[in-house]
Amino acid sequence: MPSVSERYEGLGVGFAPYLQPPGPEIVRWTVGEPGFDTPTEIIETAVQGLKNGQTKYTRGAGSKELCQSVADYLAKHHGIEVSWEDVVVTPGAKQALLYSFLITTMPGDEAILLAPSWASYEPMLEFIGAVPVHVPVNMGNFHPNMDAIRNAITDKTRMILINSPCNPTGAVFTPEEVEEIVEIAVENDLWIVSDEIYGRMVWVDWPHVSPFTVPGGSERTIVINGWSKSWAMTGMRVGFLTGPTEAVRAAMKSQANSASHIPTFMMEAARVALQCDESVELFNQEYLKRREIMVDGLASIPGLRVPEPEGAFYVFADITGTGMTDIEFADRALEAGVQLIPASLVNGGEGFIRISYATEESEIHEGLRRIRSWLDGE
Ligand SMILES: Cc1ncc(COP(=O)(O)O)c(C=O)c1O
Repeated sequence: MPSVSERYEGLGVGFAPYLQPPGPEIVRWTVGEPGFDTPTEIIETAVQGLKNGQTKYTRGAGSKELCQSVADYLAKHHGIEVSWEDVVVTPGAKQALLYSFLITTMPGDEAILLAPSWASYEPMLEFIGAVPVHVPVNMGNFHPNMDAIRNAITDKTRMILINSPCNPTGAVFTPEEVEEIVEIAVENDLWIVSDEIYGRMVWVDWPHVSPFTVPGGSERTIVINGWSKSWAMTGMRVGFLTGPTEAVRAAMKSQANSASHIPTFMMEAARVALQCDESVELFNQEYLKRREIMVDGLASIPGLRVPEPEGAFYVFADITGTGMTDIEFADRALEAGVQLIPASLVNGGEGFIRISYATEESEIHEGLRRIRSWLDGE
């Protein structure tokens, strides 16, 4: 057999080793997936689309109606003003991220990630030959350290990626922090890729602010978002990007030469989803409840430090007080019947575990019971 290209040698797969479906007896606190059914009207629209023959090739960036709805949605919820022609609907936010990395870097160029960051960014950058540079956040509150960002910039730096609200830390950057990051990008003529997939899940009294809306931001920010999280549509694989027109044209070329477009019958379903504000709000109420149960439950366990998550649906807990490494903690939690992610799988996550509280409430209670009884038996 011929050999597989060297591109794959040593390439990571993010959190995947700890995301494998365990047996049904295991409580799963791992998957970043809403524990809710996709709203019925979205499913019915997709089914109707199939029945109506929306099964053929169509406009690559997404139907005009869908792109217009995305533009309207961004203006209404995030203050982002763009034309429908500057929207590209992609197979998941992940694909949009890949395009944004291709657009902003050449092989050998450096991209700044705020560590710890979502596990897929690093391998995705490496896949295309770009060099991820991990800049640690302040580990007390997981907010960016501006001096560290400034010090990490070299003549090879092309892009800085921000993900607020953040997976895995739950941090929501303040408007002032976002402004300062844009300032740094302007000073150094850098792109910003802003992954805003958790933009509707903010639990603090400052808003999620997109760098696109900050002075100097709109000409250098590629905004990434998608339907997976707030509409419980992870398996439907729909996301989008927008940004400066030249970057969007490059994204269209990327899509034309790879995925072509999202499934045609999903376009109207994704459009309908953007009007399902009630479901988004309902899910958010549930997440708030689950967050409280998870945070209170974990905080009462000796040895765990549990900073209050400001957004998204993750708890990022410091387990160093248990005397275990995060890998030991995760492996032994699995033996006790709870699957969670040891954060040292990503740069800067040593000593922490990531827990998703998007799961059902009963699973949160049962997992807490199992962890308590395991640690009580120590
Ligand atoms: C920060 C972040 N960005 C992007 C994605 C991918 O989203 P999608 O399902 O739309 O590809 C995820 C999914 O876990 C995520 O946590």
